[in-house]
Amino acid sequence: MLRIAPSILSADFSKLGQEVQELESSGADWIHVDVMDGHFVPNITMGPLVLESIRPHTSLPLDVHLMIQNPDTYIPDFVNAGADLISVHAEVCPHLHRTIHHIKDHGTKAGVVLNPATPLSVIEHVVHELDLVLLMTVNPGFGGQKFISSTLPKIKQLKEMSLKQGLKLDIEVDGGINKDTAPLVIEAGANVLVSGSAIFNHENKKESIEQLRGKSNS
Ligand code: DX5
Ligand code: ZN
Repeated sequence: MLRIAPSILSADFSKLGQEVQELESSGADWIHVDVMDGHFVPNITMGPLVLESIRPHTSLPLDVHLMIQNPDTYIPDFVNAGADLISVHAEVCPHLHRTIHHIKDHGTKAGVVLNPATPLSVIEHVVHELDLVLLMTVNPGFGGQKFISSTLPKIKQLKEMSLKQGLKLDIEVDGGINKDTAPLVIEAGANVLVSGSAIFNHENKKESIEQLRGKSNS
């Protein structure tokens, strides 16, 4: 099932509560929360306190994308703040299997994120333990970047891996997703589309979400 997960990185941070309510009423499926620490990525965004403050404003799943070093330390805080799914970058997890179980032991869904240059082979031995794999389609750190099309074969390869092993895996993509790139990633096998600037720069959020679903071409 295709899901649209707007990233609140492009929202007005002075009224995040209202922003997530508007996304929900505009047909969003999940809310994507980009957590950056200024170390793993060259930008700083929000932490568990912000997640906790938006939690009461929506009943949609909160999809937390941790772009931070030492994610294990902060997993309990994000779980307590209301995360429904936590994804960690394979590039910062020397004990990936342990980290995945750390998330799942808290009763939260677990995902692993791969940067565009990180090969799928790093998740080969843990993929069956995962609820989701997030393939970055830009280098993480900022919204509004250009989609890297060389990630398309990787999406396809992951979809094949998932089918071959009979997994119930969500394949999420993040970065540069708009009405032109959405059909390409869907065709390649992605079923969860993160989108920040394409939704927030559009004058009508509902329309932009429908465009991403391929329901309107305007
Ligand atoms: C980038 C973030 C993305 C970002 C996507 O590091 O992980 O979630 O908000 O923004 P757009 O859709 O503008 O590329
Ligand atoms: Zn993200």
